[in-house]
Amino acid sequence: MTVAPLPKQKPDQYATEATRRRYQRLSPIYDVMEGMAERRYYPWRTKLWSQVPGLHVLEVGIGTGKNMPFYPASISITGIDLTPGMLQRAQKRASNLGINSRVDLHLGDVQKLDYPDAVFDSAVATFVFCSVPDPVLGLRELKRVVKLGGRVLLLEHMRSPNPFLGAVMDFFNPLIVRMMGANINRRTVENVRKAGLEIEQIEDLGAGRIFKLIVARVSPK
Ligand SMILES: C[S@@+](CC[C@H](N)C(=O)[O-])C[C@H]1O[C@@H](n2cnc3c(N)ncnc32)[C@H](O)[C@@H]1O
Repeated sequence: MTVAPLPKQKPDQYATEATRRRYQRLSPIYDVMEGMAERRYYPWRTKLWSQVPGLHVLEVGIGTGKNMPFYPASISITGIDLTPGMLQRAQKRASNLGINSRVDLHLGDVQKLDYPDAVFDSAVATFVFCSVPDPVLGLRELKRVVKLGGRVLLLEHMRSPNPFLGAVMDFFNPLIVRMMGANINRRTVENVRKAGLEIEQIEDLGAGRIFKLIVARVSPK
């Protein structure tokens, strides 16, 4: 018996355009706005990049290029972002760091990647799947473009497992999305599983199990 493949889901154009507009508006102030938090993120970014396997890595939602100082010297990066204003700043940062020759930047949507199957050794996203309109679709795309046995590494904040705090996050989420572009109540661990990725490691980084480092494997299921 042959089983028909599932129809390919399409990204919601309206929600994706709204996300792009929010980040375009925030792009001139993004680095200042995140300045304080960045001190906290520094060891987390260090830890993530010390675990990225392979030589050709895809970074999605690269933003203003905050991960660039952490890239291991041996890897080449393809970086994509939805928002032109963010990507321009990433380009400038790559020039300032003198790493232009191994960083290839493009506008793109993680929900619909312009790459063939199984071309990257691994993929990374930091603080991205809180704002992607359909995170499961985006994570499925990472699974598609990373080689079998490769890794998807995520640094993300998500809904608190504490029932009271989780409910508070649900209540304030619409307001935060409008202001900052990020959903604070995403269930990212579940979304990684829904996308068919095999979770290898989940590390709680702090703030009541809201911030996590997730390492998932692309396996043949
Ligand atoms: C909170 S910022 C994080 C930027 C960077 N990764 C960091 O660690 O600072 C989220 C980024 O994801 C991008 N983004 C949101 N939705 C996206 C999508 N569907 N495809 C690609 N990038 C997206 C936004 O444009 C923005 O630059």
